[in-house]
Amino acid sequence: CGIVGYVGGQSAQDVVVAGLKRLEYRGYDSAGIAVLADGGLAAAKKAGKLVNLEKTLAEEPLPAGTTGIGHTRWATHGAPTDANAHPHLDNAGRVAVVHNGIIENFAVLRAELAERGHDLASETDTEVVAHLLAEAFSSCADLAEAMRQVCRQLEGAFTLVAVHADAPDAVVGARRNSPLVVGVGEDESFLASDVAAFIAHTRSAIELGQDQVVELRREGVTVTDFDGRPAEVRKYHVDWDVSAAEKGGHDYFMLKEIAEQPKAVADTLLGRIDGAGRLHLDEVRITPRELREVDKVVIVACGTAFHAGMIAKYAIEHWTRIPCETELASEFRYRDPILDHRTLVVAISQSGETMDTLMALRHAREQGAKVLAICNTNGSTIPRESDAVLYTHAGPEVAVASTKAFLTQLVACYLVALYLGQICGTKWGDEIRTVIRQLSEISGAVERVLATMEPVRALARSLADHDTVLFLGRHVGYPVALEGALKLKELAYMHAEGFAAGELKHGPIALIEDDLPVVVVVPSPRGRSVLHDKIVSNIQEIRARGARTIVIAEEGDEAVVPYADHLIRIPVTPTLLQPLVSTVPLQVFACELATARGNDVDQPRNLAKSVTVE
Ligand code: G6P
Repeated sequence: CGIVGYVGGQSAQDVVVAGLKRLEYRGYDSAGIAVLADGGLAAAKKAGKLVNLEKTLAEEPLPAGTTGIGHTRWATHGAPTDANAHPHLDNAGRVAVVHNGIIENFAVLRAELAERGHDLASETDTEVVAHLLAEAFSSCADLAEAMRQVCRQLEGAFTLVAVHADAPDAVVGARRNSPLVVGVGEDESFLASDVAAFIAHTRSAIELGQDQVVELRREGVTVTDFDGRPAEVRKYHVDWDVSAAEKGGHDYFMLKEIAEQPKAVADTLLGRIDGAGRLHLDEVRITPRELREVDKVVIVACGTAFHAGMIAKYAIEHWTRIPCETELASEFRYRDPILDHRTLVVAISQSGETMDTLMALRHAREQGAKVLAICNTNGSTIPRESDAVLYTHAGPEVAVASTKAFLTQLVACYLVALYLGQICGTKWGDEIRTVIRQLSEISGAVERVLATMEPVRALARSLADHDTVLFLGRHVGYPVALEGALKLKELAYMHAEGFAAGELKHGPIALIEDDLPVVVVVPSPRGRSVLHDKIVSNIQEIRARGARTIVIAEEGDEAVVPYADHLIRIPVTPTLLQPLVSTVPLQVFACELATARGNDVDQPRNLAKSVTVE
């Protein structure tokens, strides 16, 4: 989501709407604004893109005011409707709050508020904050102090910005997790999810730290921690131009989205694992009884989402012992698949609008199967037409080639597999508990991979003149190889193919010639070590025939060293989870190689982000 706050001498409506426009890439399924004017508070909000809100404001402008906040939403909980759009107000309409994140204990807080006589209009966690703030402000008459009191009660991830009609000329923000940046102007101050929202006005910025509260006034800003202790602030100068600012300083959205993966992974896990290491997927509205009856899982998806589905098959069959097939959505319904009420069909789609996937799920439901969607776009068609949905929380993905959405689809697939395993009580109970814990720590491993990508970029640049790159993998490394090849095709327009390493000798080995780059994804030497040894032999086979071997292997795997012309290290990870780390170098590799060839990686030729025709 995108957040903007303003206090100064200009029209708050104009500044906030212009800021939201710069943040629209962060989400665009609804937008809203609140302005303090004439001793009161006026608000407007609208589902759909920001232009809908702009039209409303053009017809019925808010009263002129110079303090305001705004929000452009990427729905996570609750459909993208007018009512669910931000800001949310208290009953008296004196407080307005915009929010980014998930407040995990909101149900408890909501019940307590109801007991104290509050009348809550929506089911949203944000409205709870508006009521809590109103209550706290009525006793302390200080909006920043009220915000601190409220933050101390909240669990989860939240970035909040609020105004109060009885605190004119002030905007208060709080940050935990999602970013919040302060812009310091001449006699005016700004607050936003990123600097793009205000660099037309000021280039002097302060990045709020974790668990900090800021009070914004015309004459300056005050930053404290949640307990009111003053925080040290460090001003910096923003020298990006506007388009670079939207991309967080990266040259392309794809680079920004690759960098956002640790957070996307963590966000997708947030609130779904309890302290005891058990999964809670309450939003999956298929009862445990129905899930226990499932005797077959069929996964349908397209493109990158299909590769996530291929990996899910390994995980689902291993942890649940339920047979699982993964099929291209475009092939599925035309071969008259066998489905009934005991079949669980999992439809994976970032956009939720891919026509092939939609038609596959319609066919499945007509045959009586239950459909669970894994989707990144709240309120889109695929989740609406499914029996249940598990949302990924990657945030909006702008680049056509999917990166952070893929990693979160993997996380969602693992969650489904582990949840089925947990419910069905398989013999892997102990392993399931261990893996849930390991999954909760995986975002740090993704971060570590990202920190070591410079040699991968240099290697990619050095291969810009090649025509062909091959990718090999075994087990879950096989779909990773396919995904690596797809990325390179999409972005670099090169001939790139992925193979199961075991198939090499059945044909593809004929392609190997002198200096042909072959990327090999090596499974962990621990656990299923037979696999590891076999792939080491495969590497020797291709190298003996002249291939230039680019080996992706775990830290500490010494067996590959003699045969690797280039070695890319990834952290030690459980076998089934390895794709979460082994895919990342392949994304970076494709992106850099495409850039070196002069291609536009955000909008590759001939492709579309969301394909709504069959
Ligand atoms: C298009 C995109 C791919 C994407 C596929 C599936 O082909 O170019 O990047 O993987 O659609 O999209 P979905 O939104 O259903 O995940």
